[in-house]
Amino acid sequence: MKKKYIAVLGCFVALLSCEKGSIKPIDPTVVSYHKDIEPIIEAHCIQCHSIGSSSVELYDYEHIAEIVETGQLAGCLLGDTNFAQMPMDHVLDDSTKNVVYLWINQGFQDN
Ligand code: HEC
Repeated sequence: MKKKYIAVLGCFVALLSCEKGSIKPIDPTVVSYHKDIEPIIEAHCIQCHSIGSSSVELYDYEHIAEIVETGQLAGCLLGDTNFAQMPMDHVLDDSTKNVVYLWINQGFQDN
């Protein structure tokens, strides 16, 4: 009985030490395109900017990255008078805007 207990404990320790080496902690401050940005675009932008929109099309990463590079995404959220302010029909709260700014500042990765 005791031997069995030690064997089980041994396996557990081996498992733990193995896990320790292979698990990389995820930095919670890194914004994810798929987890954070996509849902924001879907909730606040896509109804007017889907495929075929007469303005910018924001249905995938490539199109969104394009309006980051032109400065339009930051400009349209920041109150920059050179750009139409978005979303056109409602106001985005600051924490949502901050997630977008952070993503842009972190190099707008497709992560
Ligand atoms: C209710 C409809 C609507 C929603 C919602 C909306 N847009 Fe727009 N958007 C428009 C229209 C219409 C235009 C063209 C307006 C113009 O050029 O004056 C536009 C233009 C833009 C432009 C080009 C602006 C420029 O001056 O270059 C960008 C970038 C943009 N939208 C991004 C977004 C983003 C990002 C969101 C979500 C946060 C969003 N839009 C939500 C209707 C909308």
